[in-house]
Amino acid sequence: MRLTLSIILGMAISVMATADGRADPAAGKKVFDDKKCTECHYTDGPAKEKTIADQLAKKGPELWYAGSKFQKKWLGKWLKDPKPIRAMAYNSMTEKNKGDHPKMSGGDAKAVTEFLMTLTSDAVKAGVIKPKKSAKGRLVFTKKMPCSGCHLFPAKKRAKFKGGLSGPSLVGARKRLNPDWIFAYLMTPEVFKPVKSMPVFVGFLKEKEMKNVAAYVANFK
Ligand code: HEC
Ligand code: HEC
Repeated sequence: MRLTLSIILGMAISVMATADGRADPAAGKKVFDDKKCTECHYTDGPAKEKTIADQLAKKGPELWYAGSKFQKKWLGKWLKDPKPIRAMAYNSMTEKNKGDHPKMSGGDAKAVTEFLMTLTSDAVKAGVIKPKKSAKGRLVFTKKMPCSGCHLFPAKKRAKFKGGLSGPSLVGARKRLNPDWIFAYLMTPEVFKPVKSMPVFVGFLKEKEMKNVAAYVANFK
């Protein structure tokens, strides 16, 4: 009798532990593999080992540096309720994003988030960029460089957002992206992207300007 009770208690506690979110990354990796997320996403890098054919073979962006790119809270939420980020389908300039990304249950999303957050890149140095309403950053983003022609970003007045559609939306970057990743991505795009549909700004922007524009983007509501 006692034994049964403790077994039941033990089971209840282990269920609670999972529901509580202390899911371990290995469990998340298993879910990731079982749900066939690997069919559309790479979890190995860096980019320079990949070819154009490799990139076209996957329908979604690479996730091998997800832990450096995303904010954990955003990632867990998005996996449960994915909303389109790219107006155009990934790797396409003509086909509309249908917004039909697979959804995960709360438990699976938590576990996969734990797993994805372990995937990091050494090229991202922590604590360099602080999100800021930088006037100099805005100048780079909206005037000096054509960033706003390809990316949606929050607008002040009646329209909620403005900008171009060929790149991922940067609306909500404040909650979604790691500020230090934005800077690393601008400084060393070759680490992250095998095929670049975004122009490289290295050589056109000084390091200080890269920092300003990264801080500005990282502050987008
Ligand atoms: C049929 C292909 C496909 C499958 C299967 C798939 N994804 Fe995706 N995934 C995509 C595409 C396409 C995007 C880009 C969506 C957008 O920008 O709106 C994406 C975006 C993402 C993102 C955001 C990446 C970024 O850089 O913005 C994450 C995280 C993600 N997927 C995780 C997963 C997980 C976890 C699974 C397994 C349940 C999964 N995906 C299954 C195609 C897929
Ligand atoms: C010609 C269009 C174009 C211009 C100009 C451009 N981008 Fe991009 N940007 C893209 C595309 C396309 C991607 C997605 C790359 C990919 O996933 O292959 C991207 C990706 C990004 C990302 C990562 C977003 C994510 O969720 O993955 C950031 C941040 C970014 N751009 C910032 C900038 C800044 C800052 C500038 C100006 C200095 C800029 N972009 C100029 C097209 C552009």
